[in-house]
Amino acid sequence: MIERPRGTRDLTPAYLARHRSVEAAFRRAAESFGYREVLPPTFEPLELFHAKAGPGIEKEMYAFQDKAGRDLVLRPEFTAGVLRHYVNELRNAPKPIKLYSIGPVFRYEEPQMGRYREFWQYSCEVLGGAALDADAETVALAVRSIRDAGVRQTETRIGHIGMLRAYLKVPREAQNRILHALDKRNFEMLHAELDGAGQLDVEPTLKSLISLRGGQEVLGKASDLLGGVGAEGFDHLRGLLDRLAAYGIREGLVFDMGVIRGLAYYTGMVFQVHSPNLGAEDQVGGGGSYALAELFGGEPIFSTGFAIGMDRIVLASEAEGAPAPPPTLDAYVVPIGESVRARAFEITANLRSTGLRVDIDLVGRGPSKNLDYANAIRARWAILVGEKELANGNVALRNMETGEQREVAVAELASVLGMDKPHLGGVEFH
Ligand code: HAM
Repeated sequence: MIERPRGTRDLTPAYLARHRSVEAAFRRAAESFGYREVLPPTFEPLELFHAKAGPGIEKEMYAFQDKAGRDLVLRPEFTAGVLRHYVNELRNAPKPIKLYSIGPVFRYEEPQMGRYREFWQYSCEVLGGAALDADAETVALAVRSIRDAGVRQTETRIGHIGMLRAYLKVPREAQNRILHALDKRNFEMLHAELDGAGQLDVEPTLKSLISLRGGQEVLGKASDLLGGVGAEGFDHLRGLLDRLAAYGIREGLVFDMGVIRGLAYYTGMVFQVHSPNLGAEDQVGGGGSYALAELFGGEPIFSTGFAIGMDRIVLASEAEGAPAPPPTLDAYVVPIGESVRARAFEITANLRSTGLRVDIDLVGRGPSKNLDYANAIRARWAILVGEKELANGNVALRNMETGEQREVAVAELASVLGMDKPHLGGVEFH
């Protein structure tokens, strides 16, 4: 037996039914906000992420050399690839530019429930907007997307990394290492980094700061702790709260000075969305404003975005008891006897051409075995094709949920089956 690689999954039809409905909700939400889809490649040059994603991601990368000795990496996220694409191809496009991506990403992490080495992200970026408007649009889209995907119980925690960076009067690289230690709540590492940077005096302040979480009062307390540093950032967060109210988002928001984020490119507002139903890996999404374009040779441009872990959204919607999407197979055709098989295949082909999803017996089972099979594959209807009924131009149509059965003219089958499928328009055939 050959096992799957550790941290990967075979996504089953039942799982994918939920996954695809989450994906469809995300696409609708992003497009309703005017975002357009872009898809960078699955593997990228190592240098795209090297030292840019930061110490957290760097050691988790699937890095390898191709046959020509190029250093490549399986994308651990979309943002860097999208910004590379922007700098190379879209620099002169009208601003703002709003882009979303959906696909698998790869991180060499310790697998557990909700944490995989291959997982799916839905990632959105807005480039070239005004700070407050773009940040609010970003948080609003993240919250809307999660809600539209059927997950109701979430908490959105909003912080600001810019004031922390301003407070740490050390070069960017050292800031990133200190922030990484804070993000991991690794106080030993924090102590060592601060010691190395000659900043041990700020240690108590940092520790108190990251435990501040709550309403607007948190901003005043944090501002006092930082002794007035980062006043702009606090004003920005107050403005953000007002703006989110204009989007109708008033519930489930908290300020949280402990939101540090695992990636090193953030520079301003940061946020994370958590589900209370997921145990340890409860972060379903996160993002913030960041600086990447200049690292890839472009002009600085105000950039904000987020990514949502689609696998965790599937888990959260299951945990909240959201119903599974309905079965996808409309009908299963059961030929009764050899003499009607050809006609049964013809009926199947005609129904399929109307857009209905139709399967037919391929092994020559008897009717009752076939009905068991129709049940097992969750067909909505069974179409029993028998000689007697066919003589009158009819078939027997059985509702697989209720067991009710009645005769229907072959010519009317498509419109009867398509009744609750308005997009098919009740097409008729003969
Ligand atoms: P991130 O927080 O690293 O941000 O990942 C986003 C989401 O991906 C997380 O909130 C989580 O739901 C999910 N996720 C992360 N690791 C795993 C894993 N091993 N297994 C399953 N799900 C996981 C980013 O990737 C940034 N690019 C977001 C962003 C976009 N910032 C600005 N623009």
